Amino acid sequence: MLLLAVETSCDDSAVAVLDQDGNALAELVSTQMVHGEHGGVVPEIASRLHMTVLPGLVREVLDKSRTSLNDMDVFAATAGPGLTGSLLVGLSWTKATAFALDKPFLGINHLSAHLHIHHSSPVEFPAVALLVSGGHTMIFHMSSWSECVLLGTTRDDAAGEAFDKTAKLMGLGYPGGRIIDELARHGNPGSVALPSPMGSKKLPEFSFSGLKTAVRLVWEAGEVSPEDLSAGFRKTVCDLLVSKTMYQAGKLGAESVLVAGGVSANSLLRSEFLRECRKRNLKLFLPPVEHAMDNAVMVGRAALSALKSDPSAHSTASCNTFARWHGKMLSPLSC
Ligand code: KG4
Ligand code: ZN
Repeated sequence: MLLLAVETSCDDSAVAVLDQDGNALAELVSTQMVHGEHGGVVPEIASRLHMTVLPGLVREVLDKSRTSLNDMDVFAATAGPGLTGSLLVGLSWTKATAFALDKPFLGINHLSAHLHIHHSSPVEFPAVALLVSGGHTMIFHMSSWSECVLLGTTRDDAAGEAFDKTAKLMGLGYPGGRIIDELARHGNPGSVALPSPMGSKKLPEFSFSGLKTAVRLVWEAGEVSPEDLSAGFRKTVCDLLVSKTMYQAGKLGAESVLVAGGVSANSLLRSEFLRECRKRNLKLFLPPVEHAMDNAVMVGRAALSALKSDPSAHSTASCNTFARWHGKMLSPLSC
């Protein structure tokens, strides 16, 4: 069985061909660099670039995997949450191709897809999962791949957004997460005092906008180096993410801890989770850095997970995009 997966929820166009076990025969991600000039993603530019790039990307992935569209048994694309114009490009292309070839199509939830990057790994349940990206910061309780309940989310900015906005106010460029992570390696986190909003580890909710304001005040006072401020900011964010996730893992008797989303590429976050999970003898699943960011392999694995629960699972022609997800139970199939 072969599956073609497409992801265009934000500023990365991604395509992958997977086999029935979730192995990628080929995958490609095309990242839109132009947004750096604007200090953030410009939705109209993003959707136009997806339209330009997607057909060639599909052709290249098919060539690399030595397959053709006719070889595909199933098609899957991200339906949301994300930028509507961007989502429409990938969803419409994939839906139209599937229906033209008379093959099943699955509209996939992007948040569930991030967690499903670990679907091919030996996860033991119950598990606690942290999804930490540019748009989301959420903790989930997973009893199985098909039973995933939201425990809490952020009340304002997502962690990745906080990294990006902090880098922007410090004049470091976009996207800022990787830049701050790099600078922080050369700084001393103890040299700057920053608040930890909603700091109780027992509360599975986050707030990062006040922290960003605190960084601005310190930065404008001009007494701390960019390296030290980056290190202080990174440590504050990582401590909040790790302490809250580990508390829930203990409280719910989790066997595994899953981390996913762009911020899971952060080097301090990875080492803190490694240390804490080792201490408690918990299985830890971190994505390879290239699969922390948006990619199509996770979309394909989410589709395979939906098909494993129900082999006849599919979306109808009316499956539409959605900008936000307000649910409590997270499922791979979104419509
Ligand atoms: O998952 P993703 O590719 O897209 C969304 O679904 O949002 O995540 C992108 C986010 C950006 O905010 C970026 O700054 C952040 O992931 N990011 C990082 C690192 N690498 C990427 N944040 C902290 N440290 C990193 N090394
Ligand atoms: Zn994402």
